[in-house]
Amino acid sequence: MMIKSFLTGISLCFMAGSTQAQYNTLHIPDTLSGTTFNLNMRDTFVQYRPGNQTITAGINGTFWGPTLIFNQGDSVHMNVHNYLNDTTTLHWHGMHLPAVMDGGPHQTIPTGTVWQPYWKVTNNASTFWYHPHLHMKTEMQLLQGIGGFIIVRDPAEAALALPRTYGVDDIPLALTSRSFDASNAFTNTSPYGDYMLVNGTMNPQVNLPKQYVRLRILNVELERGYNLGFSDNRTFWVIGNDGGLLDAPVPVTRVKLLIGERAEILVNLGTSAVGDTLNLVAYNAGQEFGFPGSEPNATGPFGSLLNNINFTVMHMNVTAATTGAITSLPTSLVSNTYLTAADATVLDTIKVTQGTPGPGGLPFSFDNTPFVLSYINKDLGLNSVHEWTVTNNNVFGHSFHIHDIQFKLISRSSGPVASYESGWKDTYYLHVNETVSFVAKFTDYADPIHPFMYHCHIAPHEDGGMMGQFVVDDQTSVAQIQKEPSDFTIYPNPANTRIYVALSDPAMQVYYITITNSIGRTMYMLPRPQLAGGIDVSYFAPGTYFMQLTDDATKKVITKKFVKE
Ligand code: C2O
Ligand code: CU
Ligand code: CU
Repeated sequence: MMIKSFLTGISLCFMAGSTQAQYNTLHIPDTLSGTTFNLNMRDTFVQYRPGNQTITAGINGTFWGPTLIFNQGDSVHMNVHNYLNDTTTLHWHGMHLPAVMDGGPHQTIPTGTVWQPYWKVTNNASTFWYHPHLHMKTEMQLLQGIGGFIIVRDPAEAALALPRTYGVDDIPLALTSRSFDASNAFTNTSPYGDYMLVNGTMNPQVNLPKQYVRLRILNVELERGYNLGFSDNRTFWVIGNDGGLLDAPVPVTRVKLLIGERAEILVNLGTSAVGDTLNLVAYNAGQEFGFPGSEPNATGPFGSLLNNINFTVMHMNVTAATTGAITSLPTSLVSNTYLTAADATVLDTIKVTQGTPGPGGLPFSFDNTPFVLSYINKDLGLNSVHEWTVTNNNVFGHSFHIHDIQFKLISRSSGPVASYESGWKDTYYLHVNETVSFVAKFTDYADPIHPFMYHCHIAPHEDGGMMGQFVVDDQTSVAQIQKEPSDFTIYPNPANTRIYVALSDPAMQVYYITITNSIGRTMYMLPRPQLAGGIDVSYFAPGTYFMQLTDDATKKVITKKFVKE
């Protein structure tokens, strides 16, 4: 008790200190909508502090990318252009889509390459995000600032009286922290940063209208967890989890979010006066052992000025209500039909185990199997319902995430599943000494070649091999006859602006096309290309190029040459 109030005392001083600090206006990411999205990844810089600019990387900007607005039912097409000085990947976290479009560690995008995944949006209205996922480089590329929000809209959400004016009463908040070295470069010598950043803005403040406001909060840290609340300890309402709205708003005063988790919350500023201020606070002091960021040290390998204290995440100023303000809380939201333990026909168990100790060693693994890119850990039947039970009898907490699906948490050995995490989830906090079970159904996208990932979302853990992969396999389909792939021709050849592909067998399906130049640099990566419109080669330098076409039935690759004039 003495210790607790002592810590609270310290954190109040810290918050009092930071109110005197200069606040910066919160950056609200631009939005992109429609069905074609152009994302340009670039190395760039931001003036965060006096002196040198900080080298960052961004998508269509300098730190953190545009918010992509998708409508459920649309087919969305991505043109991902990698102008970084490094290979990368781009993963659509939480989206249900074919593995070959998923942007995991297998879909590497070399420098100078365009990757064109596309898929039909089937997810429910919620808040998702996209981020790099290159094996062993995820932490570095997140550190530089690559990522962005995805907001999915659907008719059920649109029918509700909820705040949804983006940037006015519906605000996306990407929470992270950063430390700087002596020349103002970002440093991750500790994965816990010293300074709070929201949407890339350090010490942010935002004007919010005197009415119900919706905050879409994402933890996009390298390692830290957040235990969020407001500075007056007011009640607020969780309305959505990672994958969709809850059945009804759930009142809370605190919400914990680990890396990758999202919470949509409503906060009622209608009871405040215009001119009032309020802080969104990380009540991170005195957390349980294993909570990332509960370490007491301010410096050293896991040190941070923000460790084990309560600190301001964002300052808010209450302004006049808008016309059409939402002034009441909906009593119910959507009606979800969740999976239960009884639906599961297959049980999978996963144990968190020690990685390889010693210098250069890796901290954690699953089932004593360090991640290997070429090894498929699990082969799941198409349309099968699985109960996954993950046990963590290791030394630290983790943020467990699985690609492709949304699941329902059904049990925690540490106590009941909280009502605020009772909806569709793709990521959850796995406490130390805890066993957690969830149920998921693996529908739609069978592909025996390209896997989906499951992993800890704490960046150094994931890069360190705390990751596994599964394929969704149509185990009922008749084995493919190992015939020779059919042939194709490229025309016109030589080409000027567009090339077209003529398949000699019109029934042939194309799994993948890669185009490389004469020195082997990848120009295009086209998963399951829609070939009718041709392929734009107008920006290619004159010369010889190679098209590698993978036939879907045989997965064999045929290479053809063409000339750009
Ligand atoms: Cu946020 Cu494997 O992803
Ligand atoms: Cu993911
Ligand atoms: Cu972990």
